[in-house]
Amino acid sequence: MQAGLESLGIAVPPTYVELAELAKARGVAPGKYVDGLGVTRMAVPLVEEDTVTLAARAARMAMEAAGCTAEDVGMLVVGTETAVDHSKPVSSYVQGLLGLTTRCRVFETKHACYGGTAALLLAMDWVRSGSAKGKKALIICSDIARYGVGTPGEPTQGAGAVALLVSDQPKLLAFETGKTGAYAKDVMDFWRPLYSKDAVVDGHYSVQCYLDALEGAYKAYQEAAEDAGGEGMYSDRFAALVYHVPYGKMSRKAHRHIRTLDGDKEPDASFDRLVGPSLMLPSQVGNIYTGSMYLALASLLSCSREDLTGKRVGLFSYGSGSCAEFFSAVVQPEAQARVKALGLENLLEKRRALSIPEYEAIMAAREKLDDKPAEETAGEGFRYQGTRDHKRIYAR
Ligand code: HMG
Repeated sequence: MQAGLESLGIAVPPTYVELAELAKARGVAPGKYVDGLGVTRMAVPLVEEDTVTLAARAARMAMEAAGCTAEDVGMLVVGTETAVDHSKPVSSYVQGLLGLTTRCRVFETKHACYGGTAALLLAMDWVRSGSAKGKKALIICSDIARYGVGTPGEPTQGAGAVALLVSDQPKLLAFETGKTGAYAKDVMDFWRPLYSKDAVVDGHYSVQCYLDALEGAYKAYQEAAEDAGGEGMYSDRFAALVYHVPYGKMSRKAHRHIRTLDGDKEPDASFDRLVGPSLMLPSQVGNIYTGSMYLALASLLSCSREDLTGKRVGLFSYGSGSCAEFFSAVVQPEAQARVKALGLENLLEKRRALSIPEYEAIMAAREKLDDKPAEETAGEGFRYQGTRDHKRIYAR
């Protein structure tokens, strides 16, 4: 049985910071952030928003686009590294907001930015095996990327969610069965310690870990696909390559690495053709951790001028820590028209720019968000209901 992506949905906060403005405020040449890192704007969520509301809004878009009802969904998984609780998953709150039935497998997955991919591959096997019995899986990648104010990681923040509706009716992408290459290694490149809201990162080392994982996963993919050899460069078998995008420049480094492995003497020459369209939306949003590669995929389908129908796309997902996977899918007829109809570029255009003082005030307020509320001591019978007013924000 074939399995793939029936529809997708995106949610971003209504507010962003212009990176040229942030650079000025930090006494850095704007070119370092905009050209050096390849990011123009980074999404910054208002204090009231969290991974639950982002996830639910993205899911609503994916379900509406496919005409999918609550009864159709048999599995809901949220991949996130910005959980709202040690035990209760983001997905349970999302189930409540979406009104999904009780006959649904609901849980959360975590492995840095790879968490959503783990869920997607699992859902794909659930559909292929026949266990889904015609039901669909809703896989949502939802995160708020956060580094300390004034640190090198600060311009690589972002926030957003991507929802992926997986079923036996792949109207956007059909994933290629058995064509996946995994690579995992215990490294300390980036982590989010329990005592801190901000991620801890060894930035330059994390870039090297990403590239090592890319090489390992790319080689593992070729072994799994059993199609090495033949004419031309291996990566030319893909009409597009979609990499995990912590910032645009990382995709350029990734592409250069793959092409060099392929023996290309001009590894940058194919970048605009094979990678360019996938960076258009990410460059306006920043790193959204689990959703980053899927936002890049949406960008490719929405912004590419080439007709990709029937063509193969290579996907590389990297999660620090680390686990990575290179896999592939074939673009289905009408996929580009369907994604264009979601109006994603317009969604990003409608946002409001925050001033740097407004952004800094939000960062300071978010720092306090998970402090124990005073009501917790209000007496017997008090039940903590989660950190935010999800229903009100979702209803907007
Ligand atoms: P940095 O050290 O301040 O920056 O932070 P830099 O000095 O390396 O400069 C960056 C680039 O700007 C360089 O280009 C400079 O040459 C250029 P490159 O050499 O890399 O091609 N530059 C300029 N360009 C134009 N005009 C100028 C100018 N000045 C300099 N005036 C760093 C960079 C990425 C380390 C930092 O932002 C950081 O730590 N970010 C967070 C970590 C990260 O994103 N790592 C990526 C790989 S790991 C990953 O992807 C996993 C992750 O998503 C987490 C997860 O899995 O959950 C992060």
